[in-house]
Amino acid sequence: MKMDVLLGLQWGDEGKGKIVDVLAPQYEVVARFQGGPNAGHTLEFDGIKHVLHQIPSGIFRSQILNIIGNGVVLDPIILKKEIEALGKFAIDYRKNLVISKKATIIIPTHKLLDAAYEQAKGDKKIGSTLKGIGPTYQDKIGRSALRIGDVLSSDFREKYTTLLDKHKSTLSFYNYPLDALEEMERQFFEAIEFVKTLPLIDSEYAVNDALQAKKRILAEGAQGSLLDIDFGSYPFVTSSNTMTAGACTGLGVAPSKIGEVFGIFKAYCTRVGSGPFPTELMDSTGEAMRKEGNEFGSTTGRPRRCGWLDLPALKYSIMINGVTQLFMMKADVLNIFEEIKVCTAYELPSGEQIEKLPFEINELDAKPVYKTMKGWNCSLDGVTEYEEFPEALKEYVTYLEEQLNVPIKLVSIGPDRIQTIMR
Ligand code: GDP
Ligand code: IMO
Ligand code: MG
Repeated sequence: MKMDVLLGLQWGDEGKGKIVDVLAPQYEVVARFQGGPNAGHTLEFDGIKHVLHQIPSGIFRSQILNIIGNGVVLDPIILKKEIEALGKFAIDYRKNLVISKKATIIIPTHKLLDAAYEQAKGDKKIGSTLKGIGPTYQDKIGRSALRIGDVLSSDFREKYTTLLDKHKSTLSFYNYPLDALEEMERQFFEAIEFVKTLPLIDSEYAVNDALQAKKRILAEGAQGSLLDIDFGSYPFVTSSNTMTAGACTGLGVAPSKIGEVFGIFKAYCTRVGSGPFPTELMDSTGEAMRKEGNEFGSTTGRPRRCGWLDLPALKYSIMINGVTQLFMMKADVLNIFEEIKVCTAYELPSGEQIEKLPFEINELDAKPVYKTMKGWNCSLDGVTEYEEFPEALKEYVTYLEEQLNVPIKLVSIGPDRIQTIMR
């Protein structure tokens, strides 16, 4: 059996949480492979709206084993709160949720360092979610991080203190206040005691044994490909590989064992935080998209920047991920427009048009070249079949498929589980 991967092709918030929840009944395992509490994955069903940050989005389906993989950076305080918030759903998390011993721990000073680094960057700041992601991955790569398995060892406190001292000297270099630290540490050690009671496992065996036993696994990506540490608009990126390859390293699965790659994109674009966004709309059209799509961050509540769909960027993401099926989200948000634009290329100040994302994209003053299409400009409420879509929406889907060379197998027309049209 092979492992399927589901990931965002833009700058995150494409609707991954919703779709993992929709597809989950077809799987026996759902596994997160990278990122951490910077993610906010929203699920809506039976009139309930729930946002998950670190727990995989298969948690609401009782037959599914949810794995937090080795590639994840985990905040114990947030994990404890997330699990407590599941209390009202009668979920047996001790049976359905396991954590890799090799996942990296976010300690309180990682969050202070994140804030200190951002403050020092001034107007060049990345717009981090300030959850400690960058500093934690930095320590992982620097070989000084703490891992979940360490909580079980008798010298965990000593290991913690060694890392704390290192962080304190950096924070003092940045003159960053430590007033909040004491309370953060209290919560941290309380959460560590809780983590010790959870099933902590060698998840690479769990995943490969499941594949061997012909169980179906869905790997759930966080963030989006344009925020990838290697291929995103560096330095305005997150600190992990958000692409298909990240699912291999973040779970211990061989590349030859990757099956379908589901690439999720919004029918338009959004981005939170800083960095290039060629099709961004700074006008009333962008404002209307934000309002209609309720484009405010699930983790930080920040307004998301909005703009038209960017084909060169989407083609790039499809290329680096080996996407086999596309899922188009939030089509309903475009209901309000009489005309819809799609960026097909970028025009440089020299007049040259390019269809690729070059290294220099951050500095290039690239203007989008648009194709204008007729909008459907009507409600999609009550639509249950693709055949019922208005002609203009079908034309939009067909045009994108032709351009992207990958079938669009699913169109989402609302936040609820049931507002999902399969093709
Ligand atoms: P994720 O990070 O990729 O899981 O996405 P988020 O949960 O951060 O953001 C997606 C938002 O759009 C959430 O509020 C979802 O409830 C909502 N959403 C998902 N699919 C649709 C859709 O098809 N239409 C509309 N209007 N909202 C959607
Ligand atoms: P989900 O999984 C959207 C963005 C931040 C910032 C940059 C770096 O919900 O799609 P970080 O905290 O990782 O150091 O922030 O990445 N970012 C996201 N944007 N959705 C996310 O996750 C994001 N996670 C990080 O806004 O620009
Ligand atoms: Mg999100």
